[in-house]
Amino acid sequence: METRSIAIDGPSGAGKSTLAKMAAKRLGMIYVDTGALYRSIGLYALRNGVGSKDERGVERLLPEITLEMCYDGAGTQRVILRGEDVTDEIRAPEVSIYASDVSAMPPVREFLLQMQRDMAVRYDVIMDGRDIGTVVLPSAGVKIFLTADPEIRARRRFDEMVAAGRSAEYEEVLRDINYRDVNDSSRAAAPLKPSEDAITVDTSPFGLDESFEKVLEIIEARLKSGAK
Ligand code: DC
Repeated sequence: METRSIAIDGPSGAGKSTLAKMAAKRLGMIYVDTGALYRSIGLYALRNGVGSKDERGVERLLPEITLEMCYDGAGTQRVILRGEDVTDEIRAPEVSIYASDVSAMPPVREFLLQMQRDMAVRYDVIMDGRDIGTVVLPSAGVKIFLTADPEIRARRRFDEMVAAGRSAEYEEVLRDINYRDVNDSSRAAAPLKPSEDAITVDTSPFGLDESFEKVLEIIEARLKSGAK
């Protein structure tokens, strides 16, 4: 049976994962967080003392890496790296930088491509990332590019970290967002950019509920028009 795919791309902190998760729940689809895969490879490089920009070193590690995605009782995606659940550890700030750096490497992108496509063949998915609409699922029925001003994204991320009881400094979070924006958009391999047929939603002026309404409106209109 043909499955349905929704691609949500955009920069760090635009609200992709929160909104995609909400939409997946509403529509009975599976939410796939592809950033978690890049983060897991970043974590593995970090643990093995390989520099985040050492492409040869990271490439040498790839044959040792096995990754699985599974879902717990609450429908939350867990990532299993070589048999170990690393879902929480990959959220550390140093892993964010590593993930952004290793994601610029073509062998890393190649390594993860099929795994992402396989998910979309097996399930109805809402997949979030940077290149889902452009590279991973170019024929996705719905493509949304979610964005917001960097300061607003940093503020949201900061509030999220504080709410989760993690120590954080706003200036540092903003620096991290700016670093990843430049890195993710300027790389040669599958850079962050809207697919030509994506609908861009700038969530800067909106709170969560309003952003969700906009996203859902777009998805429902596309699905109603017969998009897969
Ligand atoms: O979405 P995230 O912040 O968890 O992603 C971590 C890094 O992974 C991000 O800086 C860029 C990279 N990434 C990517 O290059 N392509 C994707 N589809 C998803 C993430």
